[in-house]
Amino acid sequence: LRHLLTTEGLSATILQQILDTAESFVGVTERDVKKIPLLRGKSVFNLFFEPSTRTRTTFEIAAKRLSADVINLNMAVSSQTKGETLLDTVNNLAAMHADIFVVRHNLSGAAHLIARHVRPEIHVINAGDGWHAHPTQALLDMFTIRRYKQDFHALRVAIVGDVLHSRVARSQIHALTTLGVPEIRVIAPKTLLPAKIERLGVHVYHDMSQGLKDVDVLMMLRLQHERMQSAHLPSSEEYFKYYGLTPHKLALAKADAIVLHPGPMNRGVEIDSDVADGPQSVILPQVNFGIAVRMAVMSILAGAQS
Ligand code: CP
Repeated sequence: LRHLLTTEGLSATILQQILDTAESFVGVTERDVKKIPLLRGKSVFNLFFEPSTRTRTTFEIAAKRLSADVINLNMAVSSQTKGETLLDTVNNLAAMHADIFVVRHNLSGAAHLIARHVRPEIHVINAGDGWHAHPTQALLDMFTIRRYKQDFHALRVAIVGDVLHSRVARSQIHALTTLGVPEIRVIAPKTLLPAKIERLGVHVYHDMSQGLKDVDVLMMLRLQHERMQSAHLPSSEEYFKYYGLTPHKLALAKADAIVLHPGPMNRGVEIDSDVADGPQSVILPQVNFGIAVRMAVMSILAGAQS
């Protein structure tokens, strides 16, 4: 694996390798080992052209735990504002001996474009591109599911909310499918589902009371307001009434079902605080596992793992 741009097309073997490697890094952090030297001497450049709290920070922590040098660029004050192209920016940073670029961009395909143009020794990790993909988010979600449910092969998983604009949902569906989840449901109003999503092998529901019945894992999604035209925005109150996850709706799922959310959450829109902070929520462990998963991805790409 040279770059990580999408979960689509990744083999089950590679996905398992990333999850297993991440497991070993959770062990390292639990044993309170602050740093391991796998990426000593390497430079990781965080290029975030869109806002981020969890992804940018956990990539930084992950790189530092691997002993890499981390350079966080504030793209809002970079020379892109003076008209420099994306590739010129990247080429200039590559000249500073970058080893890994972590890229978030509002344009689908931005990380792919960079990956096609960088020198062969540089690795590109997609940290979210437009509506397209967010592979490390999906990987940390898979890691979280495996931690709580062990086996993917007997699970019923529901992805709930704004699937249309969600790069997370697309990456989750590809990863869940490859890892052998037999039943993936998407639950959303018609207006928030991509056309022909059934082609991805998912079962479509528009009604929470049907879609949540007997599921093991609920993966909630945020309404991606920034990607919608205002005319298409549902009102928060109406959306919450039909698609917000309340304790009452969660009771339709299995009693031991877990609730994930990639963040940022909009409480009272897609999720009730009683669920977000409740006993079935694994939302904060999910964030923490992001460190180990991103350590695994960077160490595998940079050849520090077999
Ligand atoms: N899940 C996620 O990508 O969160 P951030 O936007 O905070 O990075």
